Amino acid sequence: MAAGWPVVLAAGEVRLRPLRRSDEAAWFRLRVTNREWLARWEATSPIGVRSATPSFRGFLRILRRQARRGTDLPFGIEYRGELVGQLTVSGLSRGSLWSGSIGYWVSEHVAGRGIVPTAVGLAADYCMHSRGLHRIEINIRPENEASLRVVEKLGFRDEGVRLRFLHIDDDWRDHRTFALTREDVPEGLLARLARRPG
Ligand SMILES: CC(C)(COP(=O)(O)OP(=O)(O)OC[C@H]1O[C@@H](n2cnc3c(N)ncnc32)[C@H](O)[C@@H]1OP(=O)(O)O)[C@@H](O)C(=O)NCCC(=O)NCCS
Repeated sequence: MAAGWPVVLAAGEVRLRPLRRSDEAAWFRLRVTNREWLARWEATSPIGVRSATPSFRGFLRILRRQARRGTDLPFGIEYRGELVGQLTVSGLSRGSLWSGSIGYWVSEHVAGRGIVPTAVGLAADYCMHSRGLHRIEINIRPENEASLRVVEKLGFRDEGVRLRFLHIDDDWRDHRTFALTREDVPEGLLARLARRPG
């Protein structure tokens, strides 16, 4: 598996790219204005570690280190040239698994435009076809209807519920796991998304 980073992926008006220092003001603005929008779905620490990141620069250093080691692909999501959210492929594993797990958010002001389905399509195609991953997984709280629509549009397979699976919004929360393996999308996920009626 190539440890190539930075990576930039684009389809139409959606672009995935690494966060950079010049994103600092826009990133903080997004996080502040979307605090309530994101709170229910945010990963938290079971041992009460709040934000161990001393600064945006420190935060970027951590992301870059993870990307260089090949454990995570931490993308910013751009829409029409504006930073609007993040998509991270995390826990990239090799061995006999070759899997990764995708998480995402976008700002409320651009929700409902199909940005995240496209972003997931881009990331999944890149992971499966350029990084050799065999499986892509997405874990979603059963009450997150908007996110459930994302995997439905992309045709991910429902693999059932994992009880108290992830620490989200300050507690252990049940999640539904959705997945695709390479054999499911020989044509690529973006191509499949484009073929959806409507
Ligand atoms: C879930 C989320 C990533 C979806 O991204 P998106 O780019 O808006 O995806 P889509 O445009 O395909 O919209 C998905 C669904 O969101 C819902 N939606 C659309 N506009 C919305 C809005 N303004 N507010 C709330 N929900 C909306 C609709 O049900 C839509 O499905 P539809 O297209 O069949 O109507 C986004 O809502 C988000 O970031 N939410 C907060 C963080 C989060 O839940 N992250 C995922 C954790 S698993």
